Amino acid sequence: MKLIFEKSLEGKRACKLPGCDVPHAGLDKLIPENMARNTDYALPKISEPELVRHFTALSKRNHGVDSGFYPLGSCTMKYNPKINEDLSKMKGFSGAHPLADETHVQGCLEILYMMDKMLSEITGMEHFSLQPSAGAHGELAGLMIMRAYHEKRKDMGRKKVIIPDSAHGTNPASAAMVGYDVLEVKSDRRGNVDINALKELISGEVAGLMLTNPNTLGLFEEKIMEISKIVHDAGGLLYYDGANANAIMGVVRPGNMGFDIVHLNLHKTFSTPHGGGGPGSGPVGVKKHLARFLPSPAVRKKDDEYYFEYNMPDSIGRMKSFYGNFGVILKAYAYILTMGGKGLKEVSETSVLNANYLMEKLKDHFKLPYERICKHEFVLSGIKQKEKGVTTLDMAKRIMDFGYHPPTIYFPLIVKEAIMVEPTETESLEALDNFADAMIKIAKEAIQEPDKVKNAPYNTAVKRLDEITAARRPVLKWSQDR
Ligand SMILES: Cc1ncc(COP(=O)(O)O)c(C=O)c1O
Repeated sequence: MKLIFEKSLEGKRACKLPGCDVPHAGLDKLIPENMARNTDYALPKISEPELVRHFTALSKRNHGVDSGFYPLGSCTMKYNPKINEDLSKMKGFSGAHPLADETHVQGCLEILYMMDKMLSEITGMEHFSLQPSAGAHGELAGLMIMRAYHEKRKDMGRKKVIIPDSAHGTNPASAAMVGYDVLEVKSDRRGNVDINALKELISGEVAGLMLTNPNTLGLFEEKIMEISKIVHDAGGLLYYDGANANAIMGVVRPGNMGFDIVHLNLHKTFSTPHGGGGPGSGPVGVKKHLARFLPSPAVRKKDDEYYFEYNMPDSIGRMKSFYGNFGVILKAYAYILTMGGKGLKEVSETSVLNANYLMEKLKDHFKLPYERICKHEFVLSGIKQKEKGVTTLDMAKRIMDFGYHPPTIYFPLIVKEAIMVEPTETESLEALDNFADAMIKIAKEAIQEPDKVKNAPYNTAVKRLDEITAARRPVLKWSQDR
């Protein structure tokens, strides 16, 4: 950089600053000698346009919703309105100091207050805390609330949490972090919780059941009211993993299904992209009997003034500094207001319609383990192709040649050679048809020309990565020699 700077000035014009009559020498005098750099930066010497081109080329290698279809099941990769990004960057919000006095940030507090109300309305809960910064963080908060509730009632023998075998891995991990033993309940042949297995597991030692509905097979629990009664009759609580809320908004509410505690993934359903470890928000909501245990402080309103309520003696305490991930909450707020109640319902209905449309198109070409109407996503099995030596991983690599991000694979664990597709509501009929055509072509290739699929991809910048080495021995440092 220094080199380019000097070259462009060399001998061309004299510096106009006072006391400076030698060409460009005056500029050097502006920096005190003891602070002036006398060695070069250890940086590659390239011009700015070259640098910009380099990073632009890199960004084009990345696949995002803005560059193509992204049917990553369990991740809700829908298009999120760009205007909400602009809103979250508005100076009044992004410039607010986290330690500012409550009276100076009334607008921010109003948004938190309104979000509590809106999310409660959507889910059928009494109150929400917006502190948790991811789905798993919401789970942790929710399970701490579960524990606090039982402890408050001096019901100390409840050490177990029941979780279905189809659940997302964060569920058992969160339960273990709170100190619970995890009891796994099997799914039945229709992909529901096996009621008889649940009855065998339930006892006075069970603190609660964690359930995702629709579950990670994309299927709605057909006997949810019976499940709720079994758990409540035994003194347990019902926890709702709301990461799949994109399928139910405006149609059914976890509160009406009997759930006591809910978390939502704002970074899936409400206008923030999911994945990549980016900032998220996993608000946790509860019914009235659990509101006293929510994280503190809560945002309250008195005489048109918003304030933080710290006087919450039964609270599980703070889960996150300051306001939570405020920018993500703000985008969700704008999204909910823009969509309105009817719009949110339409989101759910369209996402379910799109998933069923794709499932119908693909089910004759792959095995469909659960033949019933799905919700926002569905799970196929590549078992037929595996018999010809082509794995689901091979087919996921091949789909990249067609310009698509592969679906989620090998999850949920209970489906062999699982291929999990979530098209979302924001894709057009044409996009769905094109994806279906590509998937059908690959399903046929796998049977007729297996080697072609096994050696894919052909059109990507790199072929197959050594994913195990990348995970076990990641190289996280830039080096000039590389
Ligand atoms: C069903 C389900 N539960 C929980 C989570 C965890 O959410 P997060 O990744 O924000 O921690 C996810 C993430 O996709 C999920 O799909």
